[in-house]
Amino acid sequence: MRVLVTGGTKGIGLKIVEKFLKETDAQIHFTGRDEEAGNRITQMDSRLKFHCIDTAQREEIPKLYSLVGPVDVLILNAGICKDTLFLRMKDEDFDAVLKMNLYSPFWITKAFISDMLKKQSGSIIYLSSVSARGNAGQANYAASKAGLEAMAKSLALEIGKRNVRVNVVRPGFTDTKMTQDLPDTLKQEIMKHIPLTRMAQPEEIAEVVYHLAMNFSYVNGQVVTVDGGLTLH
Ligand SMILES: NC(=O)c1ccc[n+]([C@@H]2O[C@H](COP(=O)([O-])OP(=O)(O)OC[C@H]3O[C@@H](n4cnc5c(N)ncnc54)[C@H](OP(=O)(O)O)[C@@H]3O)[C@@H](O)[C@H]2O)c1
Repeated sequence: MRVLVTGGTKGIGLKIVEKFLKETDAQIHFTGRDEEAGNRITQMDSRLKFHCIDTAQREEIPKLYSLVGPVDVLILNAGICKDTLFLRMKDEDFDAVLKMNLYSPFWITKAFISDMLKKQSGSIIYLSSVSARGNAGQANYAASKAGLEAMAKSLALEIGKRNVRVNVVRPGFTDTKMTQDLPDTLKQEIMKHIPLTRMAQPEEIAEVVYHLAMNFSYVNGQVVTVDGGLTLH
């Protein structure tokens, strides 16, 4: 089996890579721009292959496909945020987030999906966010994730007959680099709304991604929320 995880150098992506390494005998390809981190991670096991590629650049995607080749499981995890209030949001902040979080998963899926369709087998997982429902200060990020969810469901409708499943995992507030720089006051405010009264650890998100990709063979076109109950409010 062959797996590709985008953004595997840190955070949730790294935990997904580690989970597949532990639970399967797959060859696991992962991407990122942090060469030092990627090379350090590959030293864990010869089944790990790192590709130091900026996947926000359209022209890099054919290179990624030529290095990786056909995969059985595709996990589109890499993402960024550039938060600010709508009235202060610059075109370049909107563009950068849409490019990384929505266009890049579209480009990568297009590159890898033909092999899955030919083989009539495969599983694709996109990483969205509870912010897809709309969130103040995240107009760009929320739009990118809502678009990603809609794209995933549309794709699931189109390719289910070829036995390729498409699902989305929608994490809540998770303890990674993405959230580490938030002001403590904001973190405490968010925490008040989480019934479990804590952030997720990245491995808790990876656990759901893994089982959804590998084991839940009749789950298709779904958005699975993993947020400690945050969105019950
Ligand atoms: N953390 C949360 O609270 C949270 C909540 C909901 C959803 N999510 C979503 O979960 C996913 C993972 O988030 P995370 O918290 O694990 O983020 P993270 O710790 O910031 O890691 C992001 C990953 O994406 C990669 N990446 C970013 N820009 C890239 C680019 N241009 N080209 C290639 N790789 C790039 C990074 O690799 P390099 O650093 O090596 O470039 C890194 O491996 C994202 O889609 C995020 O939106 C996170």
